[in-house]
Amino acid sequence: MIDTQIRPLSEQTFNLFRDLIYEKTNINMRDSKHILVSNRLRKRIVALGLCGYDEYYNYLTKGENRDKELPHFIDAVSTNETYFFREMNHFGALGELILPELFGFKKQIRIWCAGCSSGEEPYTLRIVVDEYFDRAGTGKAEIIATDISTDMIEKARNGVYGERAIRFVPEEVMKRFFFPVGGGCYQITPELKSGVDFRVHNLLKEDPPENSFDLIFCRNVMIYFDKAIQRRLVDEYFAEVLDPRGYLCIGHSESLTGTSQRFRYLRGIKAPIYKLE
Ligand SMILES: C[S@@+](CC[C@H](N)C(=O)[O-])C[C@H]1O[C@@H](n2cnc3c(N)ncnc32)[C@H](O)[C@@H]1O
Repeated sequence: MIDTQIRPLSEQTFNLFRDLIYEKTNINMRDSKHILVSNRLRKRIVALGLCGYDEYYNYLTKGENRDKELPHFIDAVSTNETYFFREMNHFGALGELILPELFGFKKQIRIWCAGCSSGEEPYTLRIVVDEYFDRAGTGKAEIIATDISTDMIEKARNGVYGERAIRFVPEEVMKRFFFPVGGGCYQITPELKSGVDFRVHNLLKEDPPENSFDLIFCRNVMIYFDKAIQRRLVDEYFAEVLDPRGYLCIGHSESLTGTSQRFRYLRGIKAPIYKLE
């Protein structure tokens, strides 16, 4: 099917997709997301050679391929924007405050990067943690990174990034952890790659990947969920697996004020970092 022959996404079919997106991911697609959803789904329709949105909806919900198509649908509708050293203040606080404190009473820590997209965030965590170990001369950290999108986890495991993703990577970090692979792209070193354990995982439908963490990064993920889901996620899910002395980091445009009853905001750090009450 040629792209231009596809009829625009009707309001009625948009509502069907919106309900399906909410059912599968709890992501709230407001009316203003109509064009975004139609553009993203059009690519799947063209790739599958289907005639239009209604046919795609049936393919996704009734056809024999529905289980196989669902991950592609989820990939198509999720927003995966990310890059290395995004929201730098968290990483500053990590190296200067959080890691020295945690390693004051532990020899080994476990970190969960939830909603890690294509890997830039957990690899940045690995770099910052390893640099701290170099300075401190000791320490061990396991990093588990999860995302609902199979495409993003595959990209993360592959570890090849373009210029946009690496634009804030300091030069000395580039020299140590990246090598050019042509076409303006860079691959991370095998050492860095082996420092993160990636898993496909839905935060709202599956148990946490492990039962205890010292640090949870969940940045720019909750922004897509409504308040009730955000509260459930932090107070009934993260709080249950976070060590009482651990830390929760969320995105700069997110806040738990008025949402959480179990986490308190840490003042004096220029980043939204929380501890259990
Ligand atoms: C905007 S990206 C944020 C990436 C990274 N945390 C950062 O701040 O740069 C949001 C990510 O959350 C993931 N996501 C959305 N809903 C999810 C869910 N229910 N479970 C796991 N990951 C989810 C998306 O697939 C996407 O990769």
